[in-house]
Amino acid sequence: MKTIAPSILNANNLQLGQEIEQAVRAGIHRFHIDIMDGHFVPNLSYGPQLVSDFKAAYPAVTAEIHLMVDELSLIEKFAAAGADLIEFHYEAAPEQVDHWLDYLHGQHVQAGLVLNPETPVAVVQKFLPKLDQILLMTVHPGFGGQSFLPESLKRLQELRQLVGPDFPVEVDGGINDQTGRKASAAGANVFVAGSYIFGGKSIAEQVKQLQQAL
Ligand code: DX5
Ligand code: ZN
Repeated sequence: MKTIAPSILNANNLQLGQEIEQAVRAGIHRFHIDIMDGHFVPNLSYGPQLVSDFKAAYPAVTAEIHLMVDELSLIEKFAAAGADLIEFHYEAAPEQVDHWLDYLHGQHVQAGLVLNPETPVAVVQKFLPKLDQILLMTVHPGFGGQSFLPESLKRLQELRQLVGPDFPVEVDGGINDQTGRKASAAGANVFVAGSYIFGGKSIAEQVKQLQQAL
């Protein structure tokens, strides 16, 4: 089963509610919410209130939080806001990974680990029993609208080998119908797409095109 998780980063902030609604009507049941602190990445985005507002409006739709922050204790705030899945970067604090995975499980929040393009995929191995998902970045994090890094395909194959057939492996960055198809063939089964979904003529049409491509 392939899952599409639209990243709202490049949606129109003044029309966010309508854009999310259109995606839900097109069959989306998970959204990818990018949190940026201006330190781990040179960009700023949302805070926990967006997550609590989202869950109040869409309790049955998964809120997946991609934390691009140095200060991992922010995890507590997003868990309290009602996040269903929180994924944080290995590079933010390699020595704290175990602690925060245990914390998330204690809060009954699904846990994911994110790897930047230059981080060896083998680092996930020792955390696998505690992980619900792995996110392999297919761009350098920080901004929407960048191009998919082709060397990600080899990394995806390697990661798929490591985790076995059904484990959720997500890709994020530069995903469109073409790169999505290649990533899918290389082993990804969860696809974040921002500008592809929200930058076209119709959200419903973009969702359909991507579903067909995968
Ligand atoms: C980038 C973010 C992505 C981004 C994806 O740092 O993590 O989720 O919004 O946007 P596109 O699909 O436009 O590359
Ligand atoms: Zn993201």
